[in-house]
Amino acid sequence: MNDGLWASVWEKGNNSCVKRPFQRREPKVDVFEAVKTRRSIRKYRSEPIPKEKLELILEATRLAPSAANRQPWRFIMVQDQDRKKALAEAANEQTFLSDAAAIAVAVGDPDVSARWHEKDPMIALDHMVLAATALGYGTCWIGAFDEDAVKHLLKIPAKMKIVALLPIGIPAEKPAPRPRKELSEIFFKEEWQTPWPAH
Ligand SMILES: Cc1cc2nc3c(=O)[nH]c(=O)nc-3n(C[C@H](O)[C@H](O)[C@H](O)COP(=O)(O)O)c2cc1C
Repeated sequence: MNDGLWASVWEKGNNSCVKRPFQRREPKVDVFEAVKTRRSIRKYRSEPIPKEKLELILEATRLAPSAANRQPWRFIMVQDQDRKKALAEAANEQTFLSDAAAIAVAVGDPDVSARWHEKDPMIALDHMVLAATALGYGTCWIGAFDEDAVKHLLKIPAKMKIVALLPIGIPAEKPAPRPRKELSEIFFKEEWQTPWPAH
């Protein structure tokens, strides 16, 4: 069973393109491990992302849910070094961005979904983050950027909403986990502020 999902793969030996079931090529990292090991990575090694791995990441992004299944998202994958540098500048000079192999620019289209065009791309981006993590890549959500500058740089129409940028690349650092609120602080049982039981 592959749920009807296929990926086109170039087979060097046969010098031809074949279709393979998506699941056969899934990495062996489960979702809990990816969620647990993910960190915001702000130092990257320069290796590019092999095409087949990038395809898996894009496919996981494409399959994200959206309100009324409208999929009001577009993603610009930037790999050109000069463009990455310019994007890093437009992102409040967060220069580490340009060291990542790729920067995904998530865009929401208000004409496709007036209500959800900013939120749906965030869901898809998190799929991207977890898929990249599962494949051994680091990412970092980037919300600090000059939207107009990014639009100008990538020729994005003015009416679109740029939701976030996401550098993806091989991590060159291993940050410790950052603190999180306790479960009891953020989960309630049945009603507002009724404590979630400890066990
Ligand atoms: C919407 C959003 C925007 C963010 N923007 C930035 C950013 O512009 N630059 C940055 O270095 N980190 C940014 N972060 C990363 C957060 O600082 C980070 O997720 C948080 O400190 C927790 O660390 P962790 O991701 O390693 O668990 C952003 C995260 C989110 C979810």
